[in-house]
Amino acid sequence: MIIVLCGYMGSGKSLIGRKLAAQLNFSFVDLDCEITKDQNMSIPDIFLEKGEISFRKIEMKVLKECLKTTENTVLALGGGTPCYGRNLESIKNTSDAKLIYLKMSLDSLTERLLNEQGERPLLSTIDNKENLKDYIRKHLFERQFYYMQADFNLDCSTTSPETIVKEIVEKI
Ligand code: S3P
Repeated sequence: MIIVLCGYMGSGKSLIGRKLAAQLNFSFVDLDCEITKDQNMSIPDIFLEKGEISFRKIEMKVLKECLKTTENTVLALGGGTPCYGRNLESIKNTSDAKLIYLKMSLDSLTERLLNEQGERPLLSTIDNKENLKDYIRKHLFERQFYYMQADFNLDCSTTSPETIVKEIVEKI
């Protein structure tokens, strides 16, 4: 079984994914880490040197590889992964894969991402909190269409990672 976690940047996909994998005794795979290993470059450097379109092509290729696993795995996607190319279709067509959307409110995302903009090339040039919030509001609105096609979603804004893991284990 592959449990695939999606959600906006900062929604806790990697943290929750790691905890969930430990709890279920599954392997944990972080798509951004796999991309970094594949390219031997950090995500910000890939955006800077190759551009977003190349990043999306690499992301699609690495996702396909990750979905081929036959091990029980928790896979944390990047925030944009289900929204580009045929990625959502590839996930949906993977037998024994469950897609879960970790949903977070605009306010929680803004607070979290305010301190982490440097690591995220799409947000790195936004210069204040109000602009960041506006950007996330619009971006989330566009992306929600894809996220909402998950098998189920969980509201993570005020819930601890431990409780979220418990809820996922109960639902799968
Ligand atoms: C992106 C999210 C990032 C990373 C890249 C693009 C996006 O992953 O894949 O910077 O388009 O939302 P996280 O969601 O882990 O920050």
